[in-house]
Amino acid sequence: MQTITGFSKLNKTEKINWIASQINSNSQNDFITIDRFWHKDQNEQKIFDDFSENTISNYYFPYGVAPNFSINNKVYTIPMVIEESSVVAAASKAAKFWLSRGGFKSKVISTTKSGQVHFLFDGDKEKLKNFFTVKKVKLIAATKSITKNMDKRGGGIKDISLLDKTNTLEDYYQIDVKFETCDAMGANFINSVLECIAENLKIQALEYTAFTNSEKDIEVIMSILSNYTPDCIVKTYVECPIEDLGLIGGMEANEFAHKFERAVQIAKVDVNRAVTHNKGIFNGIDAVVLATGNDFRAIEACGHAYAARDGQYRGLSSCSIDNGLFRFELTIPLSLGTIGGLTSLHPMSKMSLELLDGPSASELMKLVSVVGLAQNFGALSSLVTTGIQKGHMKMHLLNILNQLNATKEQIELSKIYFANNTVSFSSVREFLQVGPLQ
Ligand code: MEV
Repeated sequence: MQTITGFSKLNKTEKINWIASQINSNSQNDFITIDRFWHKDQNEQKIFDDFSENTISNYYFPYGVAPNFSINNKVYTIPMVIEESSVVAAASKAAKFWLSRGGFKSKVISTTKSGQVHFLFDGDKEKLKNFFTVKKVKLIAATKSITKNMDKRGGGIKDISLLDKTNTLEDYYQIDVKFETCDAMGANFINSVLECIAENLKIQALEYTAFTNSEKDIEVIMSILSNYTPDCIVKTYVECPIEDLGLIGGMEANEFAHKFERAVQIAKVDVNRAVTHNKGIFNGIDAVVLATGNDFRAIEACGHAYAARDGQYRGLSSCSIDNGLFRFELTIPLSLGTIGGLTSLHPMSKMSLELLDGPSASELMKLVSVVGLAQNFGALSSLVTTGIQKGHMKMHLLNILNQLNATKEQIELSKIYFANNTVSFSSVREFLQVGPLQ
């Protein structure tokens, strides 16, 4: 690859031609692929081009739906964007399973978000505390033009405090601001407010007569929201008497419940298992977060930090068996929006929210956490009974067959043969070439 200046100024065709000139493969084929996924309707394509920079095509993921989710006694069909096979199938299966056992119950515990102005101050701590006490109201007042609409909707700044962080880093302090952002995820709002507070902090310090000249010189390092939202939490659970679990994966209910509980406990104590356990939860969560135009990186980063909040990374879900009652639960921070950002700009996320009956951000928190719990239930149910590969391999087989351009007839024959034989790329290829080994 050569370096290039002015790439962003090139039009799309020029960009593609430059890329084609840089790769050693058959550039005509590359161009065809890029072109195939590039929306032919200019107006439609512009929507996607405007989301990002240097776009030369679109990268498609499957958009699926999982029906039959009963959540607080209302039934939903939930949209999921995910490239991994079996995830939507597992969610749908778990939804159907719990539909006849009371469904999912979910409750938002809190919706507070936060952001910080990180700054350095090498003067008298007590003077800084007094300065903050005196100026706090002014700092909030300075943000009024930004917060007035959010205030009207019942949101805005909920609290502001000065945090002494000098025991972690020399001269380091924070202005910590708590926010309610209603139905918006609120990143832009929070960041604008914080930058305004930071600007004002410097001005107020200059005017504060009790400060010496060097104390007046507060050094703001940065102002940014925190994606860690341990006070924006939702709790979701399913429960039923053990005997109502019935036969799962050929396993009797009592044995299943106890093995399941153990599997959840293992994820609480063993990091190897905890990461994979939580990955399964995020299979469901990310898929709905993506489908509704929310920020899956923020959700993941926060969820993993929350999983490690006591110093050890642990599984996010819990399971209990009390007096014969099986209960499976997930408490997780989810900072989501149903207005602003991509939610109404991306035609598919707009549609997803319509499919979900126009939820508020709090309602969406419930739906997303339910799919996370359902996914976790599906994965653990397979793991403690038949093992994960049985279901996975069915889908995997289909992917391999498609990759090998198998005909309809070959697909049907392969399904029968591989119901009792091990699936691998080479075994499927061999089967297609020479048929079943005698
Ligand atoms: C695969 O994407 C997810 C699982 O590994 C989750 C789990 O092990 O719990 C099946």
